[in-house]
Amino acid sequence: MSKDNSSLQLEKVIPEADDFLPILGTDFVELYVGNAKQAAYYYQHAWGFQPVAYSGLETGQQDSVSYVLQQGKIRIVLTSPLQPSGAINAHIDKHGDGVKFVALWVDDAKKSYEETTKRGAKSYVEPYELEDNHGKVVISGIHTYGETVHLFIERGEYKGPFMPGYRTYAPLAKSPETGLKYIDHMVGNVGWNEMNKWCEFYAKVMGFAQMVSFDDKDISTDYTALMSKVMSNGNGRIKFPINEPAEGKKKSQIEEYIDFYNGAGVQHIALATDNIIETVTSLRDRGVEFLYVPETYYDDLLDRVGEIDEELAPLKELGVLVDRDDEGYLLQIFTKPVLDRPTMFFEIIQRKGAQSFGKGNFKALFEAIEREQDLRGTLK
Ligand SMILES: [Fe+2]
Repeated sequence: MSKDNSSLQLEKVIPEADDFLPILGTDFVELYVGNAKQAAYYYQHAWGFQPVAYSGLETGQQDSVSYVLQQGKIRIVLTSPLQPSGAINAHIDKHGDGVKFVALWVDDAKKSYEETTKRGAKSYVEPYELEDNHGKVVISGIHTYGETVHLFIERGEYKGPFMPGYRTYAPLAKSPETGLKYIDHMVGNVGWNEMNKWCEFYAKVMGFAQMVSFDDKDISTDYTALMSKVMSNGNGRIKFPINEPAEGKKKSQIEEYIDFYNGAGVQHIALATDNIIETVTSLRDRGVEFLYVPETYYDDLLDRVGEIDEELAPLKELGVLVDRDDEGYLLQIFTKPVLDRPTMFFEIIQRKGAQSFGKGNFKALFEAIEREQDLRGTLK
């Protein structure tokens, strides 16, 4: 895979983070899904991901099929089982479609495994090599929250389309990209009183540091509440906010997620764009559904966030939210769940200096989510 190797320098931007696990970036996110062929169609034609690689019966893979898609630096893998029973079926049965692997791109998969398991990580798979005539890839893996796994992927000079076992995937029809560039952050939902445990896991086992913390006073509406802490690796390329439910009058979105996912898992993936108006317009035209906020959100928006480069009208038309911090501002919007179960969704984010997560929008956003929960009968 031709990832940009010029970005290999590892400038430390989070001073508190430890250096024993250098991570170059997110390598891929793999979802276990019920029907990978149709999911691949959705992500290509609704989201503008481009076809990259395929593995299945035609490549000698008897048990499962995988489609690899990419847009900017964002690479997703969609995998379905081809036979009854087994781990993939069990995962889909329990969780519905969802993220199984958050794969991290490293220089040394063996060392990553040793350093993390030495610090208490539970092994998913010991380091192993895959090789074909394009080169060699080394993979290892550790468990994180729920049944989610972090793989460590060492690509060296591998030149194939994705990794050994895959061939180029070139379907007849392609759709243009929608301007998505990279994964800004990936959020995990964990159960009651589990947030600190998993933040400690990222700190102790992976050397991450805490960037921010939001308590239930920061993140609450009249009805529901949650708590969140954001963990980052040293170079700031990997940011994992961790959410847990908090007591409210009604069931929070985190509890709804945990109920339907049957445990902890990836709640949302934030994808960065350089032009949120163009990206969201394109996604919406292709059928991606977004949460909406009341028009009154925009009445005093500029009083709240100050001058912004964008016109207000298209932001209002699309429902894009804006927030400002000490360093600048950000624009963001959230999709409705992209699966049948109300579990995973996406955020589209454009940063203009701001390095925060849209705290000023939490209330409006969670009220929007509550309206959807209410329609589903889960706001009780
Ligand atoms: Fe987010």
